[in-house]
This record gives sequence, structure tokens and C-alpha cells, in this order.
Amino acid sequence: MKLSPGKIAFITGGASGLGLGMAKAFLERGMGVAVADVMPDHLEAARSELADAGPCHFIRLDVTDREGFARAADEAEEALGPVSVLCNNAGVGALGATQDSDYRDWDWVMSVNFGGALNGVQTFLPRMRQRGAGHIVNTASIGAVLPGPGGAAYLTSKAAVLGLSETLYCDLHGQGIGVTAILLGPTASNIHKVSKHRPDAFSGTALAAREVESGDAPLLMAGMEPVEAGRKVLDAVEADQLYLFTHREFRHGVQQRLDAIMTGFGPDEGGPPATTCYGFPTFNPVFGEIVEASRKS
Ligand SMILES: NC(=O)c1ccc[n+]([C@@H]2O[C@H](COP(=O)([O-])OP(=O)(O)OC[C@H]3O[C@@H](n4cnc5c(N)ncnc54)[C@H](O)[C@@H]3O)[C@@H](O)[C@H]2O)c1
Repeated sequence: MKLSPGKIAFITGGASGLGLGMAKAFLERGMGVAVADVMPDHLEAARSELADAGPCHFIRLDVTDREGFARAADEAEEALGPVSVLCNNAGVGALGATQDSDYRDWDWVMSVNFGGALNGVQTFLPRMRQRGAGHIVNTASIGAVLPGPGGAAYLTSKAAVLGLSETLYCDLHGQGIGVTAILLGPTASNIHKVSKHRPDAFSGTALAAREVESGDAPLLMAGMEPVEAGRKVLDAVEADQLYLFTHREFRHGVQQRLDAIMTGFGPDEGGPPATTCYGFPTFNPVFGEIVEASRKS
């Protein structure tokens, strides 16, 4: 989708880190931006930072609140106009191994990272379909395709966000609505201060205690500048790109993981590819099209 001046983006978790970086990149282009975030102090800081940057509207929204999401969508469209680009970006990063995580860690992380993205899709997709145009950007993580130890709930939630993006891309193919999944690498943000957002219902866990202890450690401050990542997102939306990797450094690792998955088939015995198996198609032409288009570009 061409992101011409005047188009409107709605960004969850838009008041900090990557969300704020995407807001800046869209505003540089002359677009209007609805910045939705659960943290009032983040919203206030973003309001001052973006004061002269262009048309912005700031909304307090917890992405797990479905009715609140619908109200926020109405408010944004009333203030700025129809939303063309939805960025499901809000995320929390409770990190810990499966054996150290309890239901409260899983429920919090899945409800914000995956549930929030799903709520965004459910809220905005009907509006986009009615207009026959739009683009949905979902912030996953490089960890969605290159998982490692110690990120059980977080990496699972991001793999789910990638799955949602891919199925959505297939379902909307050819209908004028694009989808981009951001496989984000290390980016300077406030995600290490995550304990501030943990609602009481999900508190009191061993991981939560660890988050409080490491609360202000500037773990990711040496990462990519959020606005640089935001400009990459803008380019990916314009190129109608399904997968956006922000950090090339992970290329080899991702390739190795894909190769590792293929070992599950056993040795390649050759022969022509079948086209159905028990009535199911054995390939999806959408992926062939993506590969073909990237060879031509
Ligand atoms: N920073 C990184 O290195 C990195 C890497 C991979 C993926 N990510 C993902 O990028 C996205 C943005 O994170 P960031 O690193 O910029 O962190 P950040 O903490 O700086 O920004 C996230 C924003 O989301 C908001 N938020 C949290 N819970 C919310 C909720 N329930 N409803 C609405 N807003 C909520 C926070 O208030 C915050 O302003 C997240 O999805 C994160 O998982 C970040």
C-alpha cells in the first residue's frame, strides 16, 4: 500500500520504543497517527515528543480490553479519519524458562502479545474490508523463528503472532488488504521495565519478582534506533511485504533453524512433488509467489 500523506495509522503500544519509532516514521511521511497505549506516563511523554511532528491523537487503551479497543477505533477515526494501517505492536516481555513460568506469566503474556494483536484484527479488519483497503502490521520478534532457552511464554506468543499474520495474509490475498509480520531484532526500548505494566491479577510469580529486580537494567538500549526500525516498517508496508526482518545479523541462525525443521522429513528421496495428500493440498502457492516476487525485485 502506498503510504501517501494524509493516510492514518493506529499503533498500539505506540507511546514507547518501536511503536513510537513507527509513529515518527509515519509522521515524517505526512501521515496522521493514533497513538494507543496503556501507560499514561508513556502517553504524556510521547505527546510532548510528537508535539510538532504532525497530526496525532493519543488514546489510553489496554489491548486486552475488547470493548475498549472498539471505542478507541471509533475515537481515532472520528479524530483523524479512516485508519489505513493498523500496527498491533503492544507487547510485554516476561522472560523465563517453561519450568519457571506459572499460569499467571503465560496468561499475561499471551493475552497482551497474542490476544492484543487478535483484538486489533477483530476490531479493524471489518472496517478495512468494508473499504476494500488497508494494511495490518503485527510486531512479532526474531525469536518467533529463532527461539532459544529462557523465553517460553514470550517466544510462544510471538510465534502465535507470526502464525496469525501468515494465515491472515493467505485469507486476505488479492483483496486489497496487506499484512506484514515484523521479525524484530534488538531495538532500544523500555521493554526491560516491563514490571510496571503487570496487572495485579498476574503478579506474585517468580518471574515477576525477577522483573522487579532487573527493572531498570538498560538491557536493550544499545539496540537499533526505533525510528530506523520504523522506517523499515514503512518500506515493508509499501512493498506489501509479509516478512520483515530488521536485523540481517540473524540470517544464518534462521536458515539453520529452517534446515533443522526440514530434517523432520528424513532424507530427500526425490520424485515429483505430490499435489494433494488425503485431500489436503501439499503446498501453498502464496509462498511460491513471495519467493518469485523477491527474485524479480
Ligand atoms: N525491543 C526489542 O528488542 C524487541 C525485540 C523483539 C520484539 N519486540 C516487540 O516489539 C514490540 C514493542 O516493544 P518495545 O521493545 O518497543 O517495548 P516498549 O516497552 O518500549 O514499548 C511497548 C509499549 O507497549 C505498551 N503496552 C504494554 N502492554 C500494553 C497493553 N496491554 N495495552 C496497550 N499497550 C501496552 C507499553 O506501555 C509500551 O509503551 C513488543 O511487541 C515487543 O515484544 C521488541
